[in-house]
Order: sequence, then C-alpha cells, then structure tokens
Amino acid sequence: MSNKDNLCLCTSPQPQNGETWCNDNMCICGLPTKNDFELNKIYNENCLDTMKRIKDNTIDLVVTSPPYNKGFWSKNRNLNNGFKTKSRRIDYGVFDDNLKPEVYEEQQKKVIKECLRILKPSGSLFYNHIDILHEHNTIHPKYVYDFPIKQIIIWNRKNTPKLDISYFYPIHEYIFWIKKTKDAKPFYNRKNSPINKSIWNINPETNNTHPAPFPIEIVKNCILTTTKENDIVYDSYMGSGTTAKAATELNRNYIGSEINKDYIDKHIKEENNIKKQKRLF
Ligand SMILES: C[S@@+](CC[C@H](N)C(=O)[O-])C[C@H]1O[C@@H](n2cnc3c(N)ncnc32)[C@H](O)[C@@H]1O
Repeated sequence: MSNKDNLCLCTSPQPQNGETWCNDNMCICGLPTKNDFELNKIYNENCLDTMKRIKDNTIDLVVTSPPYNKGFWSKNRNLNNGFKTKSRRIDYGVFDDNLKPEVYEEQQKKVIKECLRILKPSGSLFYNHIDILHEHNTIHPKYVYDFPIKQIIIWNRKNTPKLDISYFYPIHEYIFWIKKTKDAKPFYNRKNSPINKSIWNINPETNNTHPAPFPIEIVKNCILTTTKENDIVYDSYMGSGTTAKAATELNRNYIGSEINKDYIDKHIKEENNIKKQKRLF
C-alpha cells in the first residue's frame, strides 16, 4: 500500500517470521516508511508502541518521568526492621508499578534507548528519577549511566512525603540530562533559562488529581532552553499532560504516550476548556 510519494502507509503491522517491520526507514513491503503519528496528541498505549511508529532523528526534546517502581519496594519491605512508616506506593489505576527490579531496569533501558533513537542528534532527553530508600539502603537508578549523560540536575522539592525517621528526609529528585551519543552537542540556549543553575528549587505540584505529576516549571525550563518554537517535544509517560500543556503554552508541538485513558480524557477536557476560555476573551 503506498501514497503518491510512494511511501509505505502500512499501519500497526505485525512482524512475521521473526522479521522486523518498518526497520531503518524501510518497511518489509519494500517501500520507504514515513512517521505514523499525529502531532499534539497523547496516545493511549504503551510508550514503546508509540515510539515504534516514530522514525529515527525526529524529536527535538524528550521530557519524562517514569513510574518509579515504588509498588515493588513498598510491598517487599520488612516492617519489623525498625521503621516508623511504610514507603508510599503510588496508585496509577491500570497498572501497579510493581516489577522485579531487574525487569524494571531492563524496561527502563529499553525506553531510554528508544527515546534516544527518535531524538535528533541535537536533541535532549530529560529523565526524572529518584533514590528509593529501602531498609537502610539506597537504590539508585544506576542504569542511566549506560547512556551519555550531559549533566545531572537536582530538583529540590523542599519537602517529602516520606517521613521515615531512620533517614535524613529525602527532599530531592534527579533530572538526568541525557544526550543522543557521546559526541553529541545538544542545542542549548542558556539565555532563555528561567532557572539557569544545576539545582532547581521547585515545590511539588499540588493542584492536580494525578498521583505523581511534575511541576510545569520543570518542563518549561527544559523546553525553553533546548528547543525553538514549533519544535516537537515527546513525553513517554504523559500522566496528567503536564508536558503537553507546557509545550502548547510555549508554542511547541507535542506527542505523548499514557496507558491510563482516564488521565488522557481529563487532559483533553482541560485543554478544551482552555480553548473555550481563549475564544471568549
Ligand atoms: C510519574 S507518572 C508521570 C506524571 C506526569 N509527568 C505528569 O506530570 O502528570 C507516570 C505515568 O506513566 C504511566 N505509564 C506507566 N507505564 C506506562 C507505559 N508503559 N507507557 C505509557 N505510560 C505509562 C502511568 O499511568 C503514569 O500516569
């Protein structure tokens, strides 16, 4: 199946006999492929499925915050081990954020690898994560060091939901600034940066029904410094749509993935309300 440009228009095809469909810009039907996504849309699916339809070197910026696998660590906890409180499990509705650590790591490495594949050579990936404090140990997201890191930003949340008195209260998270390759020089305009130091002092978002949204200031700082107007921003874990909102407000395009349809519906409703209000004024 092709169009007038003689590009393959196969959609969601199934690989057969171990073949990889639409690999390296060429479909097994023999025709060159094109990107198969709409801009300014959040896809209700696993992010790996969305990214499969995006060609190499397409996206200017990825900003994302995966589920932290807290379900596993809160469940596998020995409460007789001297703790006052239990670590907070986050309820995302459709999945329970509870993978074996080695499975979680492999999954996250796959996602980061795909994000870097679709990223332009001048692009940036900002990957938000934390240290899990568990039974007097720290589980750090070490797998990120398999990728070329340009900088590690500390997000100072200033407070914590974890009140375990056997630790200094953990009030920071990480934002790993990852680039496509070791030699890549990501586009960066420091002059546009509302926060131009490596510690970002930003309170957690409280005006949002999603259980783990990041504050819009985080996304805006990434967008303003590493993209230009009309560029494309992708978020593999869109949640309540913070990245979409920031991109729209700053005249950038977005694409997102989110497996919980309720979050997407809520985001669309809010977006429509904003559009309606804009039309009224
Ligand atoms: C930490 S939250 C992201 C919150 C988002 N940054 C915001 O500001 O609202 C992670 C989100 O990833 C979604 N999710 C989990 N696994 C996913 C997957 N494989 N593909 C796409 N979304 C996924 C969850 O439903 C959850 O909403």
